[in-house]
Amino acid sequence: MASFQDGLPDLTACGPATSAGPRVYIETYGCQMNVYDSQAIGGLLGRDGFASAAREDEADVVLLNTCSVRDHAEHKILSRVGEIRADRRARGLAQPVIGICGCMAERLGDELRKGGQAVDLVVGVDNYDTLPGLLRGLTDPDPAGPAAGGRTVTGHRDDQHYVAPPELYPVNNSHLVTIHKGCDYKCTYCIVPMTRGPQREKHPDTILDEIAGIVAAGGREVTLLGQNVTAWRWGADLDFAALLDLVAGIDGLERIRFLTGHPRDMHRHTMATIARLGKVCPWLHVPAQSGSDRVLRRMKRLYTRAEYLAMVDHARAVIPDVTFSSDFIVGFPGETEKDFQQTLEVVRYVKYDQIFSFKYSERPGVPAARLADDVPTPEKKRRLAELMAVQDEVWQGVASACLGQSWQGVVESAARRPAGAVRVRTASNRKVVVQGTGLEIGQHVGVRVTGFRNTTFTGERLA
Ligand code: 5AD
Ligand code: SF4
Repeated sequence: MASFQDGLPDLTACGPATSAGPRVYIETYGCQMNVYDSQAIGGLLGRDGFASAAREDEADVVLLNTCSVRDHAEHKILSRVGEIRADRRARGLAQPVIGICGCMAERLGDELRKGGQAVDLVVGVDNYDTLPGLLRGLTDPDPAGPAAGGRTVTGHRDDQHYVAPPELYPVNNSHLVTIHKGCDYKCTYCIVPMTRGPQREKHPDTILDEIAGIVAAGGREVTLLGQNVTAWRWGADLDFAALLDLVAGIDGLERIRFLTGHPRDMHRHTMATIARLGKVCPWLHVPAQSGSDRVLRRMKRLYTRAEYLAMVDHARAVIPDVTFSSDFIVGFPGETEKDFQQTLEVVRYVKYDQIFSFKYSERPGVPAARLADDVPTPEKKRRLAELMAVQDEVWQGVASACLGQSWQGVVESAARRPAGAVRVRTASNRKVVVQGTGLEIGQHVGVRVTGFRNTTFTGERLA
């Protein structure tokens, strides 16, 4: 899920900037689960009297909410710690308390408090309730104030589910709601089962109350989040499809999106529910990872290429206007040119709106780390470039066929350019930039598609 952060403003806020408490700045990396967790952390600290810093260099405390999914993501964080420290030194400013949260905290624990880029505290994904106490200890100027206790808190806890306060998170007009944490799959390349632990569901009543709170605060759209939302289940009777029904029953809620669906759990009755409930947006993010059965088996993805494609065909047959997006890994151990070509075939067949593609990155301790990482880096780069080029070519065809169509969408934000334009998102998750004097966020508009650049369309407002 590393992929959906592009374009999301980081609206994490602790408390009013005017509060007298220590000022906290939260920087979020990685997937939307982290975006949501940062919002929950902001809420927890705000309730405890911490203030929000508008900029990192104005903060007393800098929290980096981190991602471990690829090696590169972790290196970036360590250099970020060095950069923050060096910048403060160079400008003669006091050093902030620096904390690492998220998957890296869980994976590396105390190690992060040693060596050149040592940080002051490390708090893993299930222990953010300890942050207010820990930070009080670390920021209290009074020598008689609370002492800092253990500064590394990691480990999985079944009791811990976060609920972010609704007023904190108008993210692109869609409100994130995490419905479960962790993952019970054991894809051999993936660090997530280690960092986020086994799958544990948020109680359906908690989910429904949270969404009712969002609607009461003016929200009209939610994105249900989890590593594997399609596998959400409560007891014998309530599965993800049943949850969609319950959420769709909330008065005032207009649109429901969800991320990420494991292809294996995208059941036919779930697709029928999506098709039946007008509120559920017809956009499926279903990571294929590879198009080769041999590689899928070695990845332990638990489906074949034929099963994946049958799932896509069925969704197309039953869900009107459905669109797809996916993640792919190139250069998995043992991936041959023939395997890779099969991935390209899947991309050509499905015609995704968007794919997020990654070079395989060996993660310590995962099952695939026992396989030789034998695709040389230049070859991984070549395959990545070819995959992106094929997707680009496929997308040119898909997007060109959309020119002249009339779509309905909702204004989600001001567009970066041109001045005065707004970004509209359709239920199928297509973005259209429209010139729109007087258009307000949340407003429904009709647009006619006039062009496109990358994955963003341009359009005119329909009269
Ligand atoms: N190397 C490269 N990409 C990975 N992903 C997960 N683990 C790895 C890894 N070790 C990708 C998958 C997943 C996305 C979030 O990140 O494609 O769907
Ligand atoms: Fe990782 Fe696989 Fe779980 Fe996704 S389904 S989080 S790739 S183990």
